Amino acid sequence: PSGALFRRGAPLPDAVRPGSGGAGGSGRVVVVGAGNVGMIAAMRLADADRFSEVVLVDIDEGRAAGVALDLTHTAALGGFDTRIRGVGTVEEAGQADYVVITAGKPRTPGMSRSDLISTNAAIVGDVASRVARTSPRAVIVVVTNPLDEMTQHAWTSSGFPSERVLGMAGVLDTARFQALTALTGVARADRIQAWALGSHGEEMVIPLSQATADGRPLRDAVPAAELDAIVDRARGSGAEVVGLLKSGSAFMAPGMSAARMVLAMARDSGEVMPSAVLAHGQYGIRDVYVGLPARLGRGGLQEIVELDLEQDELAALRTAADRIRERLAELAAA
Ligand code: LMR
Repeated sequence: PSGALFRRGAPLPDAVRPGSGGAGGSGRVVVVGAGNVGMIAAMRLADADRFSEVVLVDIDEGRAAGVALDLTHTAALGGFDTRIRGVGTVEEAGQADYVVITAGKPRTPGMSRSDLISTNAAIVGDVASRVARTSPRAVIVVVTNPLDEMTQHAWTSSGFPSERVLGMAGVLDTARFQALTALTGVARADRIQAWALGSHGEEMVIPLSQATADGRPLRDAVPAAELDAIVDRARGSGAEVVGLLKSGSAFMAPGMSAARMVLAMARDSGEVMPSAVLAHGQYGIRDVYVGLPARLGRGGLQEIVELDLEQDELAALRTAADRIRERLAELAAA
């Protein structure tokens, strides 16, 4: 920011640069789908000032262009120098370093995420193969539901190494668990440490053996029945929002979660985030995408981190992987 609002040479107040990653950036992120989730993801990515360009892609080119222009108008407000474009095709977006796929249909009240599988597989498969041609070195982050199955589908459709195709759900589900736990007053949400693993759905696993609040075991701080209720509510949070909105699904937390993953990679942070990744024997799971703790770096997945889970937590994680595998088999057979 410059001009009348700020004295030349004066340091910028921190508030001017929320989430700033530095003065300007490099590289391009493409966000496919300029719906609500894509819009929030693009806003956070632009605002971070980490990339030189954020491109929104939507089959409704006017929507993509409109959101891009609206976001461009926030540059001085957000204190960023990111260029933002909106286009109609992945090809027009150009070669990207990171691609966030949000395209697809959201569920409506009463539907499960799995009900979207064949509709969204057609969309995600097409997008992923276009991304592979346009941006052969990109890292793909899938947001479309049903998340785990769509991530695996994007992996096979792109032909990318699995390290470069990740699914965003664990970051979202963990954030929900943190927020809901914070409502008990035990600690601030960002002082609660937890992992939401397994599937983004009924088989979500939040291993309480690993959860802490202000550094102490959460199980010592919150009664068991209350914790179980929080886990259940976190598992059903997507549906809870869908039920309230009546049309469309959650977008604030999903969009912010996707941006958070991309920024962790772009900053080469080595942060461990729960992500849908292809397991290669970790936790006794093989050859299926499932939510696991993943160390993220510039090129995508660096390693799957193995936590010391209790037996029932491990069993629940394996059940989640089995259910995802079954749904993928049903998709392949359809
Ligand atoms: C969410 O968890 O908010 C998303 O997966 C959208 C949905 O359908 O619940």
